[in-house]
Amino acid sequence: MILSTLASHSSLQILHGAKMEGFRTAILSSQTRENFYRRFGFIDNFLVYKNEEEAINLLNSLQDAIFIPHGSLIEYVGIERVSKIKLPIFGNRNLFPWESNQVKKMKLLEMSNIKTPTRFERPEDVDRLVIVKLPGAKGGRGYFTARTKKEVKEGIKQLLDKKMIQNEDELIIQEYIIGIPMYFQFFYSPMLQRVELTGIDIRYETNVDGLRRLPGDIKADPTFVVAGNIPAVARESILPLAFEYAENFIKTTRNVVSPGVIGPFCLESIVTDQLDIIVFEFSGRIVAGTNIYVNGSPYSWLYWNEPMSVGRRIAREINLAIQKGKIEDVVT
Ligand SMILES: Nc1ncnc2c1ncn2[C@@H]1O[C@H](COP(=O)(O)OP(=O)(O)O)[C@@H](O)[C@H]1O
Ligand SMILES: [Mg+2]
Repeated sequence: MILSTLASHSSLQILHGAKMEGFRTAILSSQTRENFYRRFGFIDNFLVYKNEEEAINLLNSLQDAIFIPHGSLIEYVGIERVSKIKLPIFGNRNLFPWESNQVKKMKLLEMSNIKTPTRFERPEDVDRLVIVKLPGAKGGRGYFTARTKKEVKEGIKQLLDKKMIQNEDELIIQEYIIGIPMYFQFFYSPMLQRVELTGIDIRYETNVDGLRRLPGDIKADPTFVVAGNIPAVARESILPLAFEYAENFIKTTRNVVSPGVIGPFCLESIVTDQLDIIVFEFSGRIVAGTNIYVNGSPYSWLYWNEPMSVGRRIAREINLAIQKGKIEDVVT
């Protein structure tokens, strides 16, 4: 069997893990990226495309293969084209439309009794420090903070002028939570019927994470473009709440977006000085912050006494499913 993915995001980790678990591997790559990915010996097949239309056809030509989605898939290929993928997809493809709508996305968290930042429907409602976000997985590009209604409106006008959005309804306005970010990376295993914490990371974002480097008299507005990730471990006393949230989330998705979340997902959070976890977004797939742990994380070692990246964990789940004759339980 072949495990395949799209060349970007966490594709190296995914295919490296697939190889370690004994699968053949295939990568779907644009012509411009092919050279880079040729450097890695664990990629067996290259499907090189000129445009996204061709990409889906190439992928659909694979036999006896599973496609592993990651955080850049929808952003690069578009949700319309992704729905044309005929290969079985690891995880729940029914989550994609929920994830690409900011309001629906936050609803899944709210329905799970997870604390989330207050959301403001209209700029007129803003009464505190907020962050304004664009739709899709933009890696923070274009996001801005604002203290007043006026600043929100000015910021939106700039996004419209720069054609970064077509319509202000695409935006989400959230209370800006003061604290530190922690991205709790989980994995729900239908085969072992348990949730595992696979790691925690912090996104390293320019310029918000660079502000403390400025001389005291220089002021700059924060921006949130992600350029890398940093590992973290949490105070152990925070973890029970993180797991409670994870389990609630699995239940909600099972009820609302059948068959529920499968495999990796991430609760993207701010931890406050009250040691409260406020989740500002989730990802229903592998997040790029897992790339830190190609050799396993401090948490993955608690379940597996061997190096276990999330890429490898996905391949392991597929192996377990094949052994049990239950592959339908991990793909959609
Ligand atoms: N409500 C919030 N309060 C404080 N910081 C936030 C909040 N929402 C997002 N952020 C910051 O913005 C970054 C990107 O937000 P996120 O919603 O994950 O967007 P995306 O993943 O699409 O880039 C986060 O890593 C965090 O630094
Ligand atoms: Mg995010």
